[in-house]
Amino acid sequence: MSNLIQLKAHFAEQVYPDQLGNYSRKKLTKIAAEHGTPTVIIDQDVITSQYQSLVAALPKVKMRYAIKALSNPDVINHLHGLGCGFDLATQGEIELLKSLSIDATHCIHTHPIKKETEIRQAIEFGCRYFVVDNSHELDKFKAFKDQVELLIRVSFRNQDAVVDLSRKFGCELTKVPALVDQAQHSGIRIAGLSFHVGSQVPAPYAHVNAIEQCLDVFKTMPNVGWKILDIGGGFPIEYNGPCPTIEEFCQPINDALQQVDDSIEILAEPGRFIAGPSAIQLLSVVGMAQRGERTWYYLDDGVYGVLSGQMFDHAKYPISPLQEYDLTRGLHPSVLAGPTCDSIDVIDEDIVLPELAIGDLFIATQVGAYTMASSTEFNLYPKSKILWLSGKKELLTATD
Ligand SMILES: Cc1ncc(COP(=O)(O)O)c(C=O)c1O
Repeated sequence: MSNLIQLKAHFAEQVYPDQLGNYSRKKLTKIAAEHGTPTVIIDQDVITSQYQSLVAALPKVKMRYAIKALSNPDVINHLHGLGCGFDLATQGEIELLKSLSIDATHCIHTHPIKKETEIRQAIEFGCRYFVVDNSHELDKFKAFKDQVELLIRVSFRNQDAVVDLSRKFGCELTKVPALVDQAQHSGIRIAGLSFHVGSQVPAPYAHVNAIEQCLDVFKTMPNVGWKILDIGGGFPIEYNGPCPTIEEFCQPINDALQQVDDSIEILAEPGRFIAGPSAIQLLSVVGMAQRGERTWYYLDDGVYGVLSGQMFDHAKYPISPLQEYDLTRGLHPSVLAGPTCDSIDVIDEDIVLPELAIGDLFIATQVGAYTMASSTEFNLYPKSKILWLSGKKELLTATD
C-alpha cells in the first residue's frame, strides 16, 4: 500500500467519521462564532448519562468521582447533585469542594503520599478515610489515630493499562500483614483495601484478579474488621479504537463482587469514564504552510493546551474538520499542529485532510478527562475557554 493510500485509509476509518455524534454542525459553528475558539463545551447531560450508566453497571458499588480527571466546578456540583461522592487527593481539591458547600460525608482521601499538614487539613475538612501504602505514611497517622480509618492500597501491575498506576503507588499483597500489624500496634484502625489497576484498561480481568486477591486477604485476616473494598478507576472510554460497552466491561467485575460479604462497602473512583466523553473542543485553523508533500495546519490549541493529554495521559483524541467536505475532491497528506513555538506541539502527522483554509473549524471529542487538568499557558497563550452546557440537548441536531 502506498504511503498516501495508507494515510487515506487512516483518515477515512479513524479520523473523519462520526466525530460529531449527535451534535449539530450549525449550532457548533454558531457557538464558535459567538465565543471564539479554542472553546471547550462540557455537556451536563453526558456527565449524567455516564455517571448513571456506570452506577447501573455496578449496582453494588458506591461512586467516588476522581476530581483530578476534570475538576470543573459545574461538573463537581452536578455530580454531587446526582448523589456521587468524591475521591480527593489534595488541599486544592478540598478547597474546591468547600467552595461548592460540599462536605466530606461521601469523600475519601486517596493520595498515598501526603504532608502531615495536608492530613491535618483534610481531617479538619471532615475526611475520615485515607489511603496508605507504606510504613512511613502509616506513621504519620499516629497523631490522628482517633480521627481516621485507613485503606491499604495494594499494587497490581498491569501492562495492558494505558496508564499503569501500580508502578508509583501501592504495596505488594505480601506487605499487607506487616502494615496491619504496625497499624494495630499504633492503635490505628484499618478499614479496608484499595487498588487501582490502571487507567483506560482494555479488559476487566485486572479488576477481577485484584478483587479476588483482596478477598483472599480479607479471608486470611478475619480479625481486622474489614469494612471497605475500593476498586479504583480504570473504566475505559472509546478514543480512536474499539472499546467494550460499560455493561460488558463491568459484568465480570460484578460477578467477582458477588463474593463480597454484604457487610463490606464497595467503592470505586471513576474519573475518565465520567469526564472523558462529556467534553468537546472547537478549534480554528490559524495558519497553514506547505512543507514538503504535506500541508501543515496550525490550530489555536494543541498539546500544550487541552490536547495535553496526548503527552501526559497517552491519549489520542478523535479530531476532524467540523465542516462537511466533499471527500471525492481529494485528500492530502497533512499535519495538524498546535499554535505554540515549540516543535513538540504537533497533534497528528499521519493524516490526510481535504483542502482547508485559515479560519476553518475543527472539533476534538472525548476531551473531558486529564486534558484541561494538564493544560498550560506556555507562550502565554490563554487557556481554552470552557462552556458548561446545562440545557437539555441544545446542541443536538433534532431542532437543526
Ligand atoms: C487514586 C486514583 N483514583 C482514581 C483515578 C481515576 O482513574 P480513571 O480515570 O482511570 O477512572 C486515578 C487516576 O489517576 C487515581 O490515581
